[in-house]
Amino acid sequence: MATGLPSEYISAEQITARVKEMGQAVSDDHADATELTVVCVLNGAFIFTADLVRQITVPCRLEFIRASSYGLLRSSSGMVTLNHDLDLEARRVLLVEDIIDTGLTLSRILDELQRLRPASLKICTLLDKPSARKIPVEADYTGFTIPDLFVVGYGLDSAGLYRELPFIAIPDP
Ligand code: IMP
Repeated sequence: MATGLPSEYISAEQITARVKEMGQAVSDDHADATELTVVCVLNGAFIFTADLVRQITVPCRLEFIRASSYGLLRSSSGMVTLNHDLDLEARRVLLVEDIIDTGLTLSRILDELQRLRPASLKICTLLDKPSARKIPVEADYTGFTIPDLFVVGYGLDSAGLYRELPFIAIPDP
């Protein structure tokens, strides 16, 4: 019977453990850096980024970029509008995404960030749906690889709802 509530897919405990591992990996890879500029992709990556930066031992400079995609509700149209005031020249940068689906949003953001001439640029995503990919982009750090399912929670939404859930869930159809 439909309950109307999303059902849990990845628990809060699993997320906490994985985010800790990812923070450790990012810290190890940037141990020689005096600081790391962490660019959070709004809106979906805000909770993941908040937890991740607290697991990174390198001093972090936190920045934001807003990506808005227009078109169908549950899939990227490829028409991505970016808003930011980033200055990344010569900086060590970690881009933090909530999920890579078709790859259209990430590829558009990467083009934009590379133009700003960072010293290095690594990509971190909480979730990856490789089977949905239309453009071949890959993250350097991936939390969980999942099948081509629509998920919500821990920052991800469905029409603006469910971002506050502490776990990743599959919305009731
Ligand atoms: P892409 O451009 O298709 O890779 O989609 C990236 C963006 O689409 C993500 O940053 C999310 O905002 C959104 N998105 C893709 N898949 C999902 C999902 O399963 N749940 C919620 N948002 C999603």
